[in-house]
Amino acid sequence: MTTTDKPYGADHFGFDTDQVHAGEIIGDGFGARITPINLTAGFVFDSFDHAKARFEGDDGAWVYTRNSNPTNAVVESRLTALEHGVDSIVVGSGQAAITVAMLAILKAGDHFLATRSLYEGTKTLFRDNFGRFGIEVEFIDDPHDLAEWQRKLRPTTRAVYSEAIPNPKNDLIDFELVAGFAEQAGLPFIIDSTAATPYLLRPLDHGASVVVHSASKFLTGHGASLAGVIVDGGSFDWGRYPQKFPQFSTPAADGSTYVSRFGAEAFTAYARSIIAARLGPVLSPFNAFLLLQGLETLSLRVERHSRNALALATWLERQPEVVSVDYSGLASSPHHALAERYLPKGAGSVFGFTLAGGQDAARTVIDAVELFTRMTHLGDVRSMILHPATTSHAQLSAADRARQGIDDGLVRLSVGIEDEADLIADLDHAFSVLRSSQPALAATR
Ligand SMILES: Cc1ncc(COP(=O)(O)O)c(C=O)c1O
Repeated sequence: MTTTDKPYGADHFGFDTDQVHAGEIIGDGFGARITPINLTAGFVFDSFDHAKARFEGDDGAWVYTRNSNPTNAVVESRLTALEHGVDSIVVGSGQAAITVAMLAILKAGDHFLATRSLYEGTKTLFRDNFGRFGIEVEFIDDPHDLAEWQRKLRPTTRAVYSEAIPNPKNDLIDFELVAGFAEQAGLPFIIDSTAATPYLLRPLDHGASVVVHSASKFLTGHGASLAGVIVDGGSFDWGRYPQKFPQFSTPAADGSTYVSRFGAEAFTAYARSIIAARLGPVLSPFNAFLLLQGLETLSLRVERHSRNALALATWLERQPEVVSVDYSGLASSPHHALAERYLPKGAGSVFGFTLAGGQDAARTVIDAVELFTRMTHLGDVRSMILHPATTSHAQLSAADRARQGIDDGLVRLSVGIEDEADLIADLDHAFSVLRSSQPALAATR
């Protein structure tokens, strides 16, 4: 274990050890065991020459928190270790992580491919905001159909984007199939792994180039703050495609390029200094500290989240009022084989189920729960419930909702770490209220 001020990282420990220790620095001069919160805008230069050296990046130390900060750097090292990456950048939210990662790759005139089953906030960011920048997204309807990926490829295509465990439908992709397509097409493959976390899945081990997270969710875990992270796998060869990605191969005044200076870390170096530091979505070191507290118990929480989710999904599947349960951990799920292959430690804990009684039934159940919180958030230790058709997916047309399986009777759960029996009792109570409000259906039981 590292007990000096030498950054941890050379040793290879198990996940549970890494989540507690990777990147830690002990040696702040006071003997503090916990990573201090370095709440400072900037850092002192000892002299004229020291300032010059820091701006030239010569001593690798701190300049200004918009670029980097010692507290944030510990979190970055820890996430790099947990995801099997080469470097990471923390930013103020998941949306900021997606924006920074994609803008480090794309410019006006570029096109990219994304699976359709994505967080709605990501889809509107891609379609509307990126569209205004002249960057065009095209959605893939069937990510298992290699011919569709190939058909939609254009000379201007520059990236492939997907999510690890899409919610609420849990319609998993075959990571290696999509990674194989991206590799063959010479494109980086970016995955939002928010709902999986590195405990359940490490997308970089399955061919992804870059991983992004809303760290506001499971990674922080306690719902107290927002954060985002970009993890670079270091495997995509940016220098091989200077025409497609000129930002990594265009020589600076001294003749060097991002690839020649930073090698496998060229992407993170560029994304940090040219995109994140300029657009400015900084993670407060205070929120980095909260993220670090959450990370220390990640595996314990996610294991429990997944176990509870499977128990609830199994219980829900047995209720006559439930038409379907979209949980890939269930043998009945069309995505179960992919879950067994890619998610052997658990299928996560954010999923939907559809009530036969449509919106009225969903309203009754959602209003009747007492332990579940009615809220748009996920990955919290607390269990949460939401009606996507009237909230997260309300701005879609009815036809688009139908295409994505967002029925009026669909209810989304983010299952927390409370006692399984208490969660089932809460749903059981809500279903008994539903039955008493739907006597005709109750009579068929
Ligand atoms: C899968 C996914 N990605 C990204 C985000 C955006 O994260 P944030 O709210 O931290 O900006 C969310 C938010 O719900 C999400 O569910």
